[in-house]
Amino acid sequence: MKRFLALISFSIGLVSCGPLTKEKNDRIAAQDTADTNTVQTNEGYTLMKNNCYACHHPNSASHDDLIAPPLVAVKRRYQIQYPKKEEFVNAMVEWVQNPSQERVLMPGAVDQFNVMISMPLDTEVLQKIASYMYENELERPDWFEEHFKEMHGNGVNN
Ligand code: HEC
Repeated sequence: MKRFLALISFSIGLVSCGPLTKEKNDRIAAQDTADTNTVQTNEGYTLMKNNCYACHHPNSASHDDLIAPPLVAVKRRYQIQYPKKEEFVNAMVEWVQNPSQERVLMPGAVDQFNVMISMPLDTEVLQKIASYMYENELERPDWFEEHFKEMHGNGVNN
């Protein structure tokens, strides 16, 4: 009887881990990475939502309802100017702490909405927000792609 049980558990063992091992390990590894990313990502996302969405909200009903360009537009413009992550992050940190006219990359937005107010947030907090923006796809309003193509062409004008 003991041998019989041992045999059964041996075969169950074979079925459950034999052929699956590599695939399963890969999946677990991928899942682990995804979990780590999500934790880090969520912090940046939450900070961005709490500090920037009051004005840069992605869900305004139309372009006319905006009080600031959606962050997805800001990101696009920043990445043209600052393709490297480090430059992108530094420029954005400096901008938010001190939005001065000389640094403006979106003059059309300044004409339309006036220049952004400065926000005395910690550098570390802003770095997390800017890194999140650089690394992740941002929410975009429904009207965004069409408006962007119509108005801004390659995105450099505005
Ligand atoms: C009180 C409203 C308000 C808040 C809050 C706000 N912004 Fe802005 N932001 C604006 C407006 C309006 C503009 C468009 C005018 C301009 O470019 O200055 C803008 C433009 C920008 C630009 C483009 C600057 C350029 O070169 O023209 C960046 C980058 C930016 N915001 C980042 C942020 C980030 C990051 C946060 C959150 C930490 C944030 N903003 C919070 C109103 C706001």
